[in-house]
Amino acid sequence: MDDRRVLWVTGGGSGMGAAAARSAAAAGWRVVVSGRRPDVLEETAAAIGPAASALPVDVRDVDAVAAARAEVLERHGRLDGLVLAAGTNTPRRRWADQDVATFHDVVATNLGAVATVLDAALPDLRRSAGVVVVVSSVAGWAHRDGAGVAYSASKTALGAIVRTLNAEEARHGVRACHLCPGDVATDFLELRPEVPDAAARARMLTPDDVAASIQHVLDAPPHVRVDELVITPVL
Ligand SMILES: NC(=O)c1ccc[n+]([C@@H]2O[C@H](COP(=O)([O-])OP(=O)(O)OC[C@H]3O[C@@H](n4cnc5c(N)ncnc54)[C@H](OP(=O)(O)O)[C@@H]3O)[C@@H](O)[C@H]2O)c1
Repeated sequence: MDDRRVLWVTGGGSGMGAAAARSAAAAGWRVVVSGRRPDVLEETAAAIGPAASALPVDVRDVDAVAAARAEVLERHGRLDGLVLAAGTNTPRRRWADQDVATFHDVVATNLGAVATVLDAALPDLRRSAGVVVVVSSVAGWAHRDGAGVAYSASKTALGAIVRTLNAEEARHGVRACHLCPGDVATDFLELRPEVPDAAARARMLTPDDVAASIQHVLDAPPHVRVDELVITPVL
């Protein structure tokens, strides 16, 4: 019987999610990477090796998330951890230029989908005394001018998601971390109104910097909870 722990990573095809999946696999976890683009997921899983598999899902779709959770159980028989890194933003993000349909989409992805995946996986996390890393943002920890109306609102609410989960589910051994990175050099930067140049990106965190912190949370002993982590580049 394969007794390696199983991690489900949303937003696992790229950026911090992919780096967290790589790191967890190297630390002995089996990983399932999810996102909308099957080709990107397959490429990421193949680069990690046999410990990883791809599972395409749009996390905004409640029924599709339920089916994906069932597929993780079908593949591996257990679920021990979640890294919830799927997220989005929009260049038109200020009160002066946002459109309300996009506002709702950003909130659905960054906040609603986190609740959806947690709700689907909670029975499994209770069984495994599982660990959850919610990839929020430094804009979810303190106000960041320019992060955007929908982005700031949705990421700030993730703090409440993590705190209610910890308050209510600790008795089942479930532990969650509100992980708040500052600027990270990933594709996500393409969504900014002004896309940072190479010099600016060189000063930012790398996805592997953040993955190292995620790994620390995932591998903490079952009696240890890391409630919140704020990680920012020095300059
Ligand atoms: N980069 C930064 O400076 C920064 C700083 C703080 C926090 N963050 C947060 O970090 C997280 C990861 O972002 P990243 O920087 O690593 O950028 P990224 O590489 O663009 O990752 C975002 C991931 O989310 C997935 N995704 C988006 N919408 C989805 C949906 N509806 N269903 C399933 N997957 C979806 C994307 O895959 P598909 O497009 O294939 O679906 C992609 O893999 C995000 O939540 C972001 O808000 C980023």
